[in-house]
Amino acid sequence: MLTPDLLTFADGTPVRTPDDWRRRRAELAAAILPLEYGGMPPAPAATRWELVSTSWDPRIAPPGVRYLSGNVRVEGGAAPFSFAMKVWLPAEPKDKAPCPCVLTGDDCWWWQTTDMVNEALRRGFAVAAFNRCECARDIFGPRDDSKPEQRAEGVYPLFPGRYGAVAAWAWGCHRAVDALLQIPEIDPARIAVTGHSRGGKTALLAAATDERIALCGDNQSGCCGCSAAKVVGAGGETLKSISKDWGQWFGPELASYADRPDELPFDQHFLCAMVAPRSLRVNIGLGDLWSNPLGAWEVHKAAREAWRLLGAESALAIAFREGPHRYWADDWSRFLDFCAWRLAGGLRPLDIDRRPDWATA
Ligand code: GCU
Repeated sequence: MLTPDLLTFADGTPVRTPDDWRRRRAELAAAILPLEYGGMPPAPAATRWELVSTSWDPRIAPPGVRYLSGNVRVEGGAAPFSFAMKVWLPAEPKDKAPCPCVLTGDDCWWWQTTDMVNEALRRGFAVAAFNRCECARDIFGPRDDSKPEQRAEGVYPLFPGRYGAVAAWAWGCHRAVDALLQIPEIDPARIAVTGHSRGGKTALLAAATDERIALCGDNQSGCCGCSAAKVVGAGGETLKSISKDWGQWFGPELASYADRPDELPFDQHFLCAMVAPRSLRVNIGLGDLWSNPLGAWEVHKAAREAWRLLGAESALAIAFREGPHRYWADDWSRFLDFCAWRLAGGLRPLDIDRRPDWATA
């Protein structure tokens, strides 16, 4: 059993009701966010979506798709800041109802192919993509605050702080959500976030800390994401290893637990449970030992208690598939199935024109 127990307050009293849970959730946040991620950059005074182009993308197949490319402009920090975002809107449905949207910050690498975007559009989802590395560079090696280049760009000059890159990337997701809420075709109640590996750590932290995000699709986020630090299967990444190789992703004190993860006042079930009662699906590759499938299962079992307490168990899913570390078309399709199930209101199709492929047989 992962420790500490989710359903016991820090003072030892039991967590029994949804009201109790709100207070317990605040305790979870206070335990994990500053120590693991170095806290979060603050919300800005304002975020402005600035449309710069609607030009056609010839790689996109479904008819009626609309293209928006623009800047997410953040106002009120110590310096001006913006990052680029692309949004594809599916063909407008007959009733002109706003559509669900899948957001990813993984536009810095190559997992989301055009075919994957096309599939989402065909199934009635908008897709939004930005490059999270515009918010913080992705640097290999231990965190070293004496090297100013680790914290010189992106959101750091805007909001100086102790936070690491994963927090800066998750903050980027929040600003992307600010911008998506300014696009009337997108349904504010049906925004999903997804990402792979370090992008999955980002998506999970973003969903845990922003209740506007209705669903999180975590793909093999592993250590300091969906997998435990205290239960690591053979070949799995440890806290010691991640803080040596990727310390800049995290808060400055995390590395001091590298040799004593059992003493951490949290494990990753805290982060996952902060998403409850909203939807979370974790996708695991059984051949991806580095991402610690065993630890992900332990986290899932422990976090499930939160969804159970809130009467929302069908909002939590974990999937195990064969194969290595990757986010390919089949992973994406299964993620979209979950989105269709959760964001289309149970078994009700979005509408007859948007019925997902798997529901038409
Ligand atoms: C490294 C790192 C992992 C991370 C992965 C990735 O393997 O150790 O923690 O998830 O990169 O982002 O692909």
